[in-house]
Amino acid sequence: MESENRKVILSGIQPSGILTIGHLAGALKNWVDLQTQFQSYYMIADLHSITARQVPAELRQRTMETAALFLAAGIDPDKSVLFIQSHVPQHSQLAWVLNTFTGFGELGRMTQFKDKSERHPENINAGLFTYPVLMASDILLYQADLVPVGEDQKQHLELTRNLAQRFNFNYSDTFKIPEPYIPKIGSRIMSLQNPNVKMSKSDENVNSCIFLNDTNEVIINKIKRSVTDSDAEVRFDEENKSGISNLMTLYHLATGVSFEDIEKLFVGKGYGDFKLAVGNVVADWILPVREKFNEIMKDKNRLKEVLEYGAIQAQKVAYKTLDKVYKKVGFVRF
Ligand code: TYM
Repeated sequence: MESENRKVILSGIQPSGILTIGHLAGALKNWVDLQTQFQSYYMIADLHSITARQVPAELRQRTMETAALFLAAGIDPDKSVLFIQSHVPQHSQLAWVLNTFTGFGELGRMTQFKDKSERHPENINAGLFTYPVLMASDILLYQADLVPVGEDQKQHLELTRNLAQRFNFNYSDTFKIPEPYIPKIGSRIMSLQNPNVKMSKSDENVNSCIFLNDTNEVIINKIKRSVTDSDAEVRFDEENKSGISNLMTLYHLATGVSFEDIEKLFVGKGYGDFKLAVGNVVADWILPVREKFNEIMKDKNRLKEVLEYGAIQAQKVAYKTLDKVYKKVGFVRF
């Protein structure tokens, strides 16, 4: 697994709900593809998830489920380091240092902070505000070259690059400047009920999301009921036909068939036929993931072993970077 000259990837997912097909499309699918070429670090971002109040027992359960889903989606612990963020204390330690390099105004401009604080005015905590600094620490600790994420994380990646450059400029080269890796297709899967907003696990309407533990029947029904438009042409046009374009994206991700060929396949057919076809291919895509997930959850000890081993591997790398940072800022090291 360890290779000095392979380029490095880091990414993470919050364990704050059941994962959706958006996580599979925007993150997990690419993580699996990239793990053969890169030294990959994939983490369950539990520290991030407490910026919204969590029920402790549920958070513990979701953390293990998220890890099981990583494996079920194809993350191979012999190729990638899989770990729980809170098992590697260097994440919060580096975040403190980087906080002192981050401007108040910079954080105030983060669109995710603005959205979340608008949606939850009752809990605009300091952690929510400094969340992107913790995310920068996650990435910079591992000297990541590439960060595979969905479109919504782009701004956080820009901040990460700025912080790394600022720190390097103030002292000397310390951090690798990471590049975002945002897939051309699938980086923004939209809600099935409102195709102008991102599919999100926190959406109150469960019909807006396909969860990775939805049964075939539920998946097919949700897609059948999805909101589209009033003409009857299966054509890719994100601006004017966002619902159909979103379904075409799902069809493409599930089968590999190009948009052009999907359009040809459904010429002269109604949306009913198209939705049923999308439902079937998406159900076929998710089924093996769900089955594998159920199998993995039966052997929690194995899962625990994988995570314990991952944390040890991650700590070794994280420690090296943090040690360098502590020396550079002037902390006494014995
Ligand atoms: P999170 O947990 O919200 O989402 C995890 C990943 O899934 C992608 N994603 C989507 N992609 C396409 N369509 C969607 N509807 C969709 N919904 C989610 C997200 O873009 C993300 O890549 N802050 C991060 C977690 C994190 C992280 C990191 C990521 C913490 N530290 C370091 C990368 C590097 C977050 O909240 O993602």
